[in-house]
Amino acid sequence: MSIVVSPSIRFLQKMNSLANLLSRTRISMKTINVPFEKRLFSTSSTKMPIMISEKEMAMQCLKSGPGIIKPRPKLKKVRVYRWSPDKPNVKPYMQQFVVDLNNCGTMVLDVLHYIKMEYDPTLSFRRSCREGICGSCSMNINGVNTLACITKVKPDEAKPLIIYPLPHMYVIRDLVTDMSHFLEQYRLIDPWLKRKGEENFNGIRPLLQSENDRSDLDGLYECILCGCCSYACPPYWWLGDRYLGPAILLQAYRWIIDSRDTADKERLGKLRDFYSVFRCQTIFNCTKTCPKGLNPGKAIAQIKRLLVGLAKKKRPDLETPLPNPCGGKEDIPCRKE
Ligand code: SF4
Ligand code: SF4
Ligand code: FES
Repeated sequence: MSIVVSPSIRFLQKMNSLANLLSRTRISMKTINVPFEKRLFSTSSTKMPIMISEKEMAMQCLKSGPGIIKPRPKLKKVRVYRWSPDKPNVKPYMQQFVVDLNNCGTMVLDVLHYIKMEYDPTLSFRRSCREGICGSCSMNINGVNTLACITKVKPDEAKPLIIYPLPHMYVIRDLVTDMSHFLEQYRLIDPWLKRKGEENFNGIRPLLQSENDRSDLDGLYECILCGCCSYACPPYWWLGDRYLGPAILLQAYRWIIDSRDTADKERLGKLRDFYSVFRCQTIFNCTKTCPKGLNPGKAIAQIKRLLVGLAKKKRPDLETPLPNPCGGKEDIPCRKE
């Protein structure tokens, strides 16, 4: 019930000191549900409607300090895909939890942690860095492949939060998928620096690279191999055993165009077949879904151009002198200068 009262000077003073207290104790104005901006500092003599319960709440806060006012519960329905190899006869199903978002962090990964701690310790999912760096928390959230640790829960959205594992993958348990095929394909592209004839010296001396050549790797080196793009790519769903998919091809392109790498012809030779690259239909689902904002579709298009001879790898701005670490001693083989 609401009653109408005139704001006395004393009341306004008290409310002002409450605002000060709140700013010191970091309780937000929203927390106690009083629109202070309009009410606290008004000097107008017109009558002002104030909910008595809000006034009481404010007074309690003044007397007893922070902690006694409970925020309104922000309940959110969360539906999570469940399947366990321990119960092979139970088909996969969606389990619903109702979570008070006041009790956990703001990201989907926080909600999953909360469910695991408070409701069901058997809920399984991968995570490590919780910063969008390691790529292990990739999953399908509300229909989009993305990283749980950098996806915010929208508390005001009435729709439930729906969490599946990445699509078209074998599920090991709940949200944990089998990445072994994906990583095997990654191994196929030799994801390391190759300089023919210098294998013994890689890593023991600096290799020069101009700033301009280095900037060619921007938008490529940031890939964290989360797999979100590959498992959003229809050709990869159907032909994933032979088509390498956007994540692996973006990585392949990263090594092909690195100015310090000299094995570009060998790398391109490995990709020159009917399936590895050319099954990409340039739909750009991969680019749309990448949680790091990268463009694997463009990288694939560049590989295609290199493969059909429409583009060539540019010459590096800086050449690193050939190694000569033996200083005249014959027991370490040196290449001829
Ligand atoms: S390109 Fe983006 S979506 Fe694909 S693996 Fe790399 S970071 Fe993940
Ligand atoms: S652009 Fe190519 S790699 Fe990307 S989603 Fe489409 S088909 Fe897949
Ligand atoms: S936990 Fe590392 S990217 Fe999400």
